[in-house]
Amino acid sequence: MRKLIIANWKLNPGTEKGAVLLARREDLAGVVIAPPFPYIPAVAKVLKQARLAAQDAFPVSQGAYTGEVSVAQLKSMGVQYVIVGHSERRALGDTDRMVNMKLKAVLGKGLKAVLCIGEPWSVRRRGLTAAKSFVKGQLMKDLKGVRIKKNLIVAYEPVWAIGSGRPDKPNESAVIAEFVKKISGAKILYGGSVTAGNAAQFLGRKEIDGVLVGGASLRPAEFKKIVSSS
Ligand code: PGA
Repeated sequence: MRKLIIANWKLNPGTEKGAVLLARREDLAGVVIAPPFPYIPAVAKVLKQARLAAQDAFPVSQGAYTGEVSVAQLKSMGVQYVIVGHSERRALGDTDRMVNMKLKAVLGKGLKAVLCIGEPWSVRRRGLTAAKSFVKGQLMKDLKGVRIKKNLIVAYEPVWAIGSGRPDKPNESAVIAEFVKKISGAKILYGGSVTAGNAAQFLGRKEIDGVLVGGASLRPAEFKKIVSSS
């Protein structure tokens, strides 16, 4: 089975023109692209094979919430996946309670949710058992009251591995992925400094169903190599 590769562009690139160029080059089968909100319509227009994701969404559909973007709005633009609880959003204030509300909103609208979880280095340095108990705690809170898990994907992203050039050891993330799969019943992605050089090691593990790629998804030639190693 072909694995799932998600490109998380974060707050990049700097112009809509740049986003369209990048989307054209990354429009590959098995790929999901998460551009910044304002580029979604332009990217949607050029994608033929890849599917569209959003990097976040607000749980309420309409109302007095200045600056927010709802799941319903994203769905109307052709978005099929929404990333929820990315550690960069958590660092900016998203609590587990908010992540839980967002997750329910995404699943409630019939979209696929990519729930991000992962421990900080202060936890992981104490070993895999400590990391397991940390991610279990996140899952219990984030999945509270979520009964139908058909459209749920969980991305295991150790916080210390994100954007650091210091990926997890594939055999260790596979142990956590298996653990998370048992608890959540979801497909599990690995994220954190995935590159063309290491992608095959993560994608080759049966416990890991795909990868969430940040930095390397801004370099289309490298991104293509990652996709071809799936
Ligand atoms: P990275 O980001 O690949 O740049 O480490 C991954 C992510 O934040 O999802």
